[in-house]
Amino acid sequence: MPKLTIVNRAGAESEIIAKTGISLMEALREAGFDDILALCGGCCSCATCHVYVESALTLPAMSADEDDLLDSSSCRTPSSRLSCQLQLSGDLDGLRIIIAPED
Ligand code: FES
Repeated sequence: MPKLTIVNRAGAESEIIAKTGISLMEALREAGFDDILALCGGCCSCATCHVYVESALTLPAMSADEDDLLDSSSCRTPSSRLSCQLQLSGDLDGLRIIIAPED
């Protein structure tokens, strides 16, 4: 089970042990990070699950839909991902996630 470091919008840092086989968005919601609204429920259509991922690991490739939706965010950076589109596996142990500002 991957251990993740999460920085919320207030700048507070904490660690969670996440389940595998669910999305990062689901893990964040389950852990009580209400900054992640996930209004579309993970359908890649709202961008309210936007996070910045700090990692030397190679992440799963971004789909064209995720890329297009992130383009609509004024807060996009090179480390931006939609957390609903990242499926958690043991390979992602050690990620540091910063919850992006609200658009
Ligand atoms: S939850 Fe809506 S795009 Fe991720």
